[in-house]
Amino acid sequence: MAATGLLMSSNLSIEASNQINECAETSPYPSMLINLQASMTTEEKIGQMSQFFSHGEYISEHLAESIRQGRVGSVLNEVRLHTVNELQRLAVEESRLGIPLLVGRDVIHGFNTIFPIPLGQAASWCSETVKQCARISALEAATVGVNWTFAPMIDISRDPRWGRIAESLGEDPHLCSVLGVAMVEGFQGDALHKDGNIAACAKHFAGYGAGESGRDYSTVNIPENELRNVYLPPFKAVADAGVATFMSAFNDLNGVPASGNKWLMTDILRQEWNYPGFVVSDWESIQQLTTHGFSKDNKDAAYEAANAGIDMEMVSTTYLDHLPDLLAQGHISIQQVDTAVTKILQLKWQLGLFDSPYTDASMLPVPLNPEHLQIAKDAAIKSCVLLKNENNILPLSAESLHSIAIIGPLADDPYEQLGTWIFDGDSQYSQTCLQAIEQLLLGQVSIKHVKAMQTSRSYNQADFKQAVDSASAADVAVLILGEESILSGEAHCRAEIGLPGCQEQLIDAIAQTGTPIVLVIMAGRPLTIEDILPKVDAVLFAWHPGTMGGPAIADLLFGKAYPSGKLPVTFPRKVGQVPIYYAQKHSGKPATEATYVHMDDIPVRSPQTSLGMAATHLDTHFSPLFPFGFGLSYTQFHYQNLEISSKTLHLGETLTIKVLLTNTGKIEGEEVVQLYIRDLVGSVTRPVKELKDFKRVKLAAGESDYITFDLCTDKLAFYDRNMQLNIEAGQFHLWVGGCSQTGLRDEFEIIDD
Ligand code: NOJ
Repeated sequence: MAATGLLMSSNLSIEASNQINECAETSPYPSMLINLQASMTTEEKIGQMSQFFSHGEYISEHLAESIRQGRVGSVLNEVRLHTVNELQRLAVEESRLGIPLLVGRDVIHGFNTIFPIPLGQAASWCSETVKQCARISALEAATVGVNWTFAPMIDISRDPRWGRIAESLGEDPHLCSVLGVAMVEGFQGDALHKDGNIAACAKHFAGYGAGESGRDYSTVNIPENELRNVYLPPFKAVADAGVATFMSAFNDLNGVPASGNKWLMTDILRQEWNYPGFVVSDWESIQQLTTHGFSKDNKDAAYEAANAGIDMEMVSTTYLDHLPDLLAQGHISIQQVDTAVTKILQLKWQLGLFDSPYTDASMLPVPLNPEHLQIAKDAAIKSCVLLKNENNILPLSAESLHSIAIIGPLADDPYEQLGTWIFDGDSQYSQTCLQAIEQLLLGQVSIKHVKAMQTSRSYNQADFKQAVDSASAADVAVLILGEESILSGEAHCRAEIGLPGCQEQLIDAIAQTGTPIVLVIMAGRPLTIEDILPKVDAVLFAWHPGTMGGPAIADLLFGKAYPSGKLPVTFPRKVGQVPIYYAQKHSGKPATEATYVHMDDIPVRSPQTSLGMAATHLDTHFSPLFPFGFGLSYTQFHYQNLEISSKTLHLGETLTIKVLLTNTGKIEGEEVVQLYIRDLVGSVTRPVKELKDFKRVKLAAGESDYITFDLCTDKLAFYDRNMQLNIEAGQFHLWVGGCSQTGLRDEFEIIDD
């Protein structure tokens, strides 16, 4: 929330303010709010349910007047401190009841200091890192009076064509839940009213990541069982962790748009989960109920949304325009409005806004300070995933190199390394790979930089010759390629997900020189890089690494740091495999190596049933290019002595799993030890593997350690065909390893007596 107020609200007495301090966060609904709500007119209540868009040096007269009239509960996208304080002053001093404003902003992966995109942060598999990034994001955003962020985005994302996969925490319900909770804890701290804490928002409820063919905003059809077992668990996890708000999604879900979906917003969120916070619509998504063809006009849209349980309307004004009539005509009850208003006022109370509506930035750390930058660098280091390292070409040794060619449109572009959703980031603070490598090598090695392409999308090969010449003359070519920021994020979806423009031709040209190639890829999504792999010696996947991406990558390339990221999402070989994810169902005809036939190997006029008859494609292998959980290190880890505490378990018992992990290489490293299970027979079919736990472990060269997991049978529950959450007795397989496709295996049985 805002730091201690500079000005006291004229509408609050000193006694009232002291009283608020005493009961801040202790009372479910303080008497001061009961009295306040009792004195509100219907119009003022509907005003609290309305969020206005503000962005500019000057506050429009329309906005100022709306605030004075009590028609505004929240503003979004205003980040000028003096303007935010003036907006609060208008609300607190010039409106009849002096109710302060919620000030919202998309603080997605940093405010001024930009951290790796959320998908990159997820690749760290490190709750502490994710929490720290959110913590600093909150501290920096709070300096300008922002008290509410629209994050975390916890939409399960299994389609890399979808631009917003960049903003997600990946494909897996468990990883997404754990890291989503870490983000909420980072934003909200231990109490919302403390300086530098801001309210978080779980979005987009629900199913937004499963739009048809990866197109943003498109139709989503998810059977209820799949929705409950895969898409809803992260939302339930953050609800249980106390996330302050939810946001409804743009998409229609099984025919009912989320922003008018009573089953989602009321039956599940409020009744099943007892969620006490409020739900804000996405941007104009209530008005869009009409565009969806779900409501006949805006009045009908307001009715559907209010009736579904959407408490606050973002940007469109169907509530302001139509709730008075809907109330007067008895379609909506005043109790429904009161329920929404109570939750909104309560959050303002919890944030301490009635006591301190104004922001004094001097109470908070200065954005972009060295500590924030260091944490951004550490996060970028942990998020990079080493996908290939032929003959241990990495780390490069400065001592044994004379010259290095640094090639590519993203090598020295301070903006494009930041990624999507960086409204408040400033690329002048970015440190690029070229800058960082130059600084690290300090003249020890000759560096030749050639941009080669103006942008990642360029088809102009005019500068290729210069790039090839520089690579020919160098001991190693470091290619820094990928996608520029605009190619991922909201509404930025792609049908093909290879390297854009003529980057593949650039790799071909450099490969012909024979100079070893280290490829660094910055991107907002998994890319189809199968054809490129044989042409390069190493691939470091850096996502969009943020402000400190350059120093992080330089340290990794030259061994000042070691890679430890693991993929939070499966990399397909070909886009036609999408959706491809590790936790797929087995199917009745699973693909196997023994039966797999590639189309090039099919004899002419083969009979229809002569092939493997399995769930796969003819023109690509059924496996992914890189599986979920995969990532190399500069050292090697050996797993042995898997032990489980029992071969049989009764409901409610806990299985202890122990494995001996050894760093068998010559340098220190960090491994993410992953625990997967398979429930062999279920009343609904179960995934071939499910992540249940993970631990990040640091080991010195030669060091061993026993890693243990406690797996309570509760973690094996799933929604059955009657949509009941149950643990079903039977056989389970269990794996412990460094990725979803490898690991030591054991078995156990759950007995229900
Ligand atoms: C639309 C996006 O879908 C949502 O995630 C974001 O928070 C809002 N706009 C506000 O900018």
